[in-house]
Amino acid sequence: MIFEKSGVFCIETEGTGMYIAPRGPLAEQLHYGRKIEPSAEALRQPLTVAYGTDVIYDKAFDPALSLLHLGLEVSPTEKGDFRRGALALTLANGSPVCDLRFAGGEVLPAPPEVPGLPAARDAGQCLVLRFESGEGMAAELFYIPLDDCDVIVRQTRLTNRTGGPVTLRRAMSYQLDLPRQDLVLTTLTGAWAREFEPCTAPVRRGLTQFGSVSGTSGHYCNPFFALSAPDANEHTGEIYGFNLLYSGSHAASVEADSYGFTRVMAGIQPEGFSWTLEDGESFVTPQATLTFSAEGRNGLRYNMHRFVRCHILPPRWKDAPRPVLVNNWEATYFDFTPRKLRALAAKAAGLGAELFVLDDGWFGRRTDDTKGLGDFDPNPKKLPHGLEGLAQDLAEKGLAFGLWVEPEMVNENSALYEAHPDWAVAAPGVAPSRSRNQLVLDLCRAEVRDYLIAQLNALLDSAPIRYIKWDMNRHHTDRFSPALGEQGRFAHAWTLGLYQVLEAVTSAHPDVLFEGCASGGNRFDLGMLYYMPQIWLSDDTDAWERCKMQTWASLGYPPGVMGCHVSAAPNHQTLRFTPLDSRFDVAAFGLLGYEMDLTALNAAQEKSVKAQIEFYKAHRDLFQRGRFYCLAAPEAERGGAWMVVSEDRREAAVLEMTGLVRPNAPMPVLRLAGLDEALIYQVSVRPQSVELDSFRTLLGHVLPVKPKADGVLVHLAGQVYQLPCETVDFAAAGSLLMHAGLRLPQRFCGTGYTEGVRPMPDFSARIWMLEAREVAASAPDMI
Ligand code: GLA
Repeated sequence: MIFEKSGVFCIETEGTGMYIAPRGPLAEQLHYGRKIEPSAEALRQPLTVAYGTDVIYDKAFDPALSLLHLGLEVSPTEKGDFRRGALALTLANGSPVCDLRFAGGEVLPAPPEVPGLPAARDAGQCLVLRFESGEGMAAELFYIPLDDCDVIVRQTRLTNRTGGPVTLRRAMSYQLDLPRQDLVLTTLTGAWAREFEPCTAPVRRGLTQFGSVSGTSGHYCNPFFALSAPDANEHTGEIYGFNLLYSGSHAASVEADSYGFTRVMAGIQPEGFSWTLEDGESFVTPQATLTFSAEGRNGLRYNMHRFVRCHILPPRWKDAPRPVLVNNWEATYFDFTPRKLRALAAKAAGLGAELFVLDDGWFGRRTDDTKGLGDFDPNPKKLPHGLEGLAQDLAEKGLAFGLWVEPEMVNENSALYEAHPDWAVAAPGVAPSRSRNQLVLDLCRAEVRDYLIAQLNALLDSAPIRYIKWDMNRHHTDRFSPALGEQGRFAHAWTLGLYQVLEAVTSAHPDVLFEGCASGGNRFDLGMLYYMPQIWLSDDTDAWERCKMQTWASLGYPPGVMGCHVSAAPNHQTLRFTPLDSRFDVAAFGLLGYEMDLTALNAAQEKSVKAQIEFYKAHRDLFQRGRFYCLAAPEAERGGAWMVVSEDRREAAVLEMTGLVRPNAPMPVLRLAGLDEALIYQVSVRPQSVELDSFRTLLGHVLPVKPKADGVLVHLAGQVYQLPCETVDFAAAGSLLMHAGLRLPQRFCGTGYTEGVRPMPDFSARIWMLEAREVAASAPDMI
């Protein structure tokens, strides 16, 4: 809701509020956080005397006012606000001074339409605050409150009416000045195969900058970040979350200044950026999201998850159940034959999968990563009956057909490159750097975008393709486009080019399920989610690594958009062995898939996978759309725990994962969250089993018979039989489970094995299920 009260602009959501008051030529930021009853008188920064070296912004307006003492919506550039401001520009006369003065505010029925940029869907009213400089520069700041998820969207439009060109050098989406300096910053950093590593540190005096310069939102630093009160934990405490609807190079900074403010801003990466506006032209920043919760990290998650589902995802897919898929990448890599595909598909169908995804290597000359990218014609050796033939074959098995593409890139060894070598990005006279043997296509050029749109639309029309994995496997370097006069535009113009292609292809095929991918999570952001309702989180599928990644990625993104696959052991990225059932337990909390050679499973493993898929399908809605809580963020010493709870709170699933096992360790109590205190829940553990092989010489201790540990008999038995794990079955009230907690049974420790002892090696897991019983709690017994 937006309203004006006693001279204060109030932008409120259900639980939060942002309050701004004009102060002469300035717009003073009064408060952002929990909703309050605002009063300009009480919230304005009182200032009556200037001290020492204070720069007086405008003596005629206020002889005591230095900008450093105020929270500001926009800082007049080069006017003495020495904290980093959201805008930097150069006027036609070379001057960087731009005194943007407050010129009024207005409530609009809807946010401005900005063609070409993703924008929060279903947004209602919007406040615009206008600022103008004497030379004719104008800034409009947009505030869009989204009531249902406690998010406020921010965006800025800059318009040049100076009569000459103006060059933007920094155009961030917002600046926010919080009058406190006790905050702790969490960024989600990482690299290929280890995305979403949290980096947490108190904000210290000075400027902390982070972001990406690689042309994509990137795995080095996701655009999401959080600032929390020092006492915030998973369930309580104040926390702010920030994100951008943007997939290109981005930047954010957090600056604790000398006067008690923490100034936050984020937007397009200013490094290398310059965007000249001719007279009459405008520039609109990407939208940014701000959210606040007083309920710790889980409160923040709740806001962000609702926001993504209700305001970002394509409406067609927002609530649509996602299929259990089988992807052939880690099963075959490039090395597949029609026979192998048929065998994999037959297994996938038999185990209950719903979608078969043919990954890289199906087109042109692509037998490895040195060739073929850029071409879209099916390779006749690998697909003798074309895509349609494969789709038909799959349909007969009851499987939908999904396909991998990497349209933004090209190999020099490809028909496309041979025809259009100049379509690959390279600076004049400099041999471009290769990454994964490929070059970036120049999406700043209209003819390249048109080619891609035509190729992709034709591909999608050529066969019944129900799913596309849209990959992008290299960072941008050697940036130069002949289509641009001003090369400082490259990174942003390329991103806008990508959005144009995405919009054209996804809107022409609304029923195709698109999954984003960029060597895993190298482009995991709200901009991509606007077009593609799911993204492959990481090329690393190790259960423990995924447990950490899914935990931290969930701060900004719902598990229901994360592609999560069960892969082989040893894991192809870490060489770690984790039990098959544990790999499933972790993947089940996202969008389930299998990416392993299913034809190599033994009968016992097949039985496990079949049961896993059946279980997931039976609880799909809970896992894909339930409310997610982190109960304990994973740490090697103690493991981790999550839960998801259905909307009506009648069903919940809890993940318990061990870290590095300590023998005879204390038995933890796991306090649950989000349940209905008054309901009685039937508590069980998903039936799972351990492979006999994992016991080796201990087998004699756990079985009534004493087999020879390395004997053929044990090996053969292990092919068809696995040791069932503990069964749990009791009823307990929601109040008990949340406030007293779930008592986790003993874990196996070498001696003394009973049915109640749980064989749980390093990095293994269980899923506990809670189902509300029909009967209410019984009346107390009389003494
Ligand atoms: C990237 C993706 C993988 C796979 C390969 C294929 O690395 O992240 O999942 O699709 O490309 O080349």
